[in-house]
Amino acid sequence: EVKRMTVPQLLACKGQRKIVALTAYSVPTARVVDDYVDFILIGDSTAMVAYGLPNTLSISLEQIGHHTAAVVRGTKRACIVADLPFGSYQESLGQAFRSAGYLLSQGADAVKLEGGEIMAETVEYLVSRGIPVLAHVGLMPQYVNTMGGYLAQGKTPDSAARILADALALEKAGAFGVVLEGVAEALGAEITSKLSIPTIGIGASPSCDGQILVTDDMLGLSGNRVPKFVKRYADLDTIMRNAVQQYADEVRGGKFPEAQHCFGVKRT
Ligand code: KIV
Ligand code: NA
Repeated sequence: EVKRMTVPQLLACKGQRKIVALTAYSVPTARVVDDYVDFILIGDSTAMVAYGLPNTLSISLEQIGHHTAAVVRGTKRACIVADLPFGSYQESLGQAFRSAGYLLSQGADAVKLEGGEIMAETVEYLVSRGIPVLAHVGLMPQYVNTMGGYLAQGKTPDSAARILADALALEKAGAFGVVLEGVAEALGAEITSKLSIPTIGIGASPSCDGQILVTDDMLGLSGNRVPKFVKRYADLDTIMRNAVQQYADEVRGGKFPEAQHCFGVKRT
């Protein structure tokens, strides 16, 4: 029997081995990813990647819940982390607990939320009540309107110090890890060395304790515009186009279906 990776096991990777993570929103992707990663994130990036929305702000808690349940059904090994979407946790501690509890009821093992020291109280509230939390600092897409775009963070000494202080506050509050997104390489390395919990980098640093990418981005399924930090490991867009083109040609040319695809036709 295969056992799912647990949050304490992820925590124990610090200083021992790299943590590998990817996103998934649906069964077909989750089934593949599950065989290779330590944790799967049902990110609110699903808003942009799967729903074509302009940012991550308008995905609902219920939508993330449905995608979480699908990913759980399609997997058996990886730890499952679900993003708390914008508006589902910022209002009050009670709201955060209800939202996070709902995601756990859909099969998530932990939740992720964005925000620095301001979220430390929320993290402590959730963790002390049985909900593991992965923090997320640096470039936080839910802050796109206050940032004025998706801009790398921590470029000045002041903002770098702020992000380090945020990460330390979240560790103190009980987060089991911190996603560092879109920060200068040196800052990613510094935060990783100063925290006793794992850092998960995305556009951060090779020194981070783990790395995460949006699966559709690294597989070449999200169009031509991808962030600088994405490496394309495959070009599935082209593979899918070739297959769909061949199908269309064969239907139009009367070559598909063949006898073996039809019922009640003797094979020769
Ligand atoms: O929503 C998401 O996919 C994320 C990762 C990119 C860290 O938050
Ligand atoms: Na996210």
